[in-house]
Amino acid sequence: MIIEQNKAFLLNGNNFTYAIRVNALGDLQTVYYGEKLSATDLDFMQKSVADPCIPALNELNRETYTDGLSNEFGSFGRGDYREPTALVVRKDGAQMSSFRYLSHKIFKGVPEVKGLPHARSGGDTLSVTLKDEFSDVEVTLNYTVWDELGVIVRNAEYKNTGKDPVSLKKAFSFAVTLPERDYGVLRLYGNWAKERSPQVTPLGYGTVRVQSLRGSSSHCMNPFMGLLSENCTEDAGECYGVQLVYSGSFALTAEKNPANGTVRLQGGVNDTGFEWYLEGGETFVAPQAALCYSSEGLGGMSRAYADFLRERVINPDRVFARRPIVINNWEATYFDFGYEKLCEIIDAASELGVDTFVLDDGWFGKRDSDTSGLGDWVVNEKKLKGGLNAVIARCKEKGLKFGLWFEPEMVSEDSDLYRAHPDWAMHKAGTVPVRMRNQLILDFSRKEVVDSVFGAVSKVLSSHEISYVKWDMNRTMTEFFSAALPAVRMGEIAHRYILGVYDLAERLTAAFPKVFFEGCAGGGARFDAGMLYYFAQFWTSDDTDAYERTKIQWGTSVCYPVSAMSCHVSACPNHQTRRTTPFATRGAIASLGATGYELDPSKLTEEEKEETKAQIEAYKRISELVLRGDLYRLSSPFTENYFCEMLVSKDKTTAYLVGERFHGDPNDYMRILRLNGLDDRKTYRIEELGFTASGKALRTVGVPFPRLSDFGGWTWHLTEVK
Ligand code: GLA
Repeated sequence: MIIEQNKAFLLNGNNFTYAIRVNALGDLQTVYYGEKLSATDLDFMQKSVADPCIPALNELNRETYTDGLSNEFGSFGRGDYREPTALVVRKDGAQMSSFRYLSHKIFKGVPEVKGLPHARSGGDTLSVTLKDEFSDVEVTLNYTVWDELGVIVRNAEYKNTGKDPVSLKKAFSFAVTLPERDYGVLRLYGNWAKERSPQVTPLGYGTVRVQSLRGSSSHCMNPFMGLLSENCTEDAGECYGVQLVYSGSFALTAEKNPANGTVRLQGGVNDTGFEWYLEGGETFVAPQAALCYSSEGLGGMSRAYADFLRERVINPDRVFARRPIVINNWEATYFDFGYEKLCEIIDAASELGVDTFVLDDGWFGKRDSDTSGLGDWVVNEKKLKGGLNAVIARCKEKGLKFGLWFEPEMVSEDSDLYRAHPDWAMHKAGTVPVRMRNQLILDFSRKEVVDSVFGAVSKVLSSHEISYVKWDMNRTMTEFFSAALPAVRMGEIAHRYILGVYDLAERLTAAFPKVFFEGCAGGGARFDAGMLYYFAQFWTSDDTDAYERTKIQWGTSVCYPVSAMSCHVSACPNHQTRRTTPFATRGAIASLGATGYELDPSKLTEEEKEETKAQIEAYKRISELVLRGDLYRLSSPFTENYFCEMLVSKDKTTAYLVGERFHGDPNDYMRILRLNGLDDRKTYRIEELGFTASGKALRTVGVPFPRLSDFGGWTWHLTEVK
């Protein structure tokens, strides 16, 4: 709901109020962002906001004191010394700006964000256009809220209304001023096989910047930032979050103002190396950012984000549909397979109850290792006698569907594609390119490159019965040079690349609506809301170890729903950590997401085969909770000897709890697990323990943790008894 009173605006979601106003100078200011309030308090709220102060409207000095104002857009070179939201450079080199109110409108629905993933529908939008007093650039700030959701979606559109070109050296999506407080900054950092570890540090004065310069959102830093109040815990206290609906190089900054302790939080496309050339009449559309306020701690924020992504971002035809349970051959064979080996896997898999066999890397071109073949999306019939059709026929015979791996954005130097079009790789001729995993990145800023990849992938998909695609991306961007872009536009390449990725994803998913697309990026390097718009699930990490996964999945759930996480049971010793964990624990941890298997089923013992069948049957029972449930994180693998999470149905009548005890400890026999997230007034039966108790008792008294040996895992099913 949006209410307007004399150029002051109150935007309400289900649990928050976001209020802004135009001040006497025409600046757009944050008035309030926090717990839900009513419009009757809008006047009062404005009293707490600094006016364009002293000497208030004295024309001579009117810009001097803007440094402490709670502006919704940071101008440059006119007395506001915080980092600006945009930098506009004109023909004469001038960069100062002062964005002031021009107009606004309120309408139903979400503004169109052409070429970028975005929140899909519903809601109410406020668009406020500001005009730079020093250039012909207008910026339109969009704000969308939904009555039933806990997020506000923001973005910015930069329009050059003049005749002369300007260049945008920075064009962030949003800025907001948060109230003065001692915040902790939460970021999700990581690396390959260690994605999205939460870390909280004090914000302090000055700027904290969370960013990626890798051309993708990256393993190392997720496009998310949380600002936590001092008393914020998992279950209580206030916090703010922001995540970008974007998959390229990004930046999110929080700057605490030494003058008054307020915080400018802003972000968007990373401005390092960025320069967007804007001809007269052209518009640059910045990606969306989803801001979240929670008064129910981090858990409340995570659940609000899960609802938002499931209901407004992820493909509605896919998001709540039962996910195929796959078996993937990567860790079973790596590159070393032929038709016979795949048949062994398919035959064994068909007895277990999985839905789909996914053939991973190595089926195409000349690809027996990672040194060659990428870009040649033609089946290697020498390696795979009878081609893909023979493998698909075997799958059909055994009652399985067939899925296939692609890495559309890449090229090997040893490939027919590269030999034909060396300039299609993103590097500068005459210089030595950086090779990662022996491959180069295709220049997706070029339409002909995207068209050609679309043609090649489409040909495979339309000529075979393929129901599942795993779209991988295994290196980061370097060189940042396109043989096709003019010099003045070279600073656009990283963003144009990701627009090319979105274009291909849009076209392929539209052309093959029956194919289920899973995203992947050397594990979970591009696990973000942008990719989730196209792919309902993403390979969470190459690390499938049942201990490491508790941490990776915990961190990922901070701002993504569990249904978006692909989680597989793999063989032991684990290929990444060499650790051996019980098969049951691996199954339990992998059931907290879109489950599957990543092993050679022909090598399973009879006992493991039976266990797999049982796991798959058990998963089908809880799959609705995975798709639609609310997640409660109960015991953190980062600080406790136990991991524990619980999925609770929206009506709180059923719940599914998964736990793991890391190390056998003779002295932890009195540790109590408190089940937060149930309905206090309902009575539940815990099937595995055979007892009933009220939701309130389960929350307050709790249940002793099961005393299991090293890496022992357990699952509990809770049902309301009337
Ligand atoms: C990446 C993926 C793996 C696998 C390999 C294949 O590392 O994360 O799952 O597909 O590529 O090369």
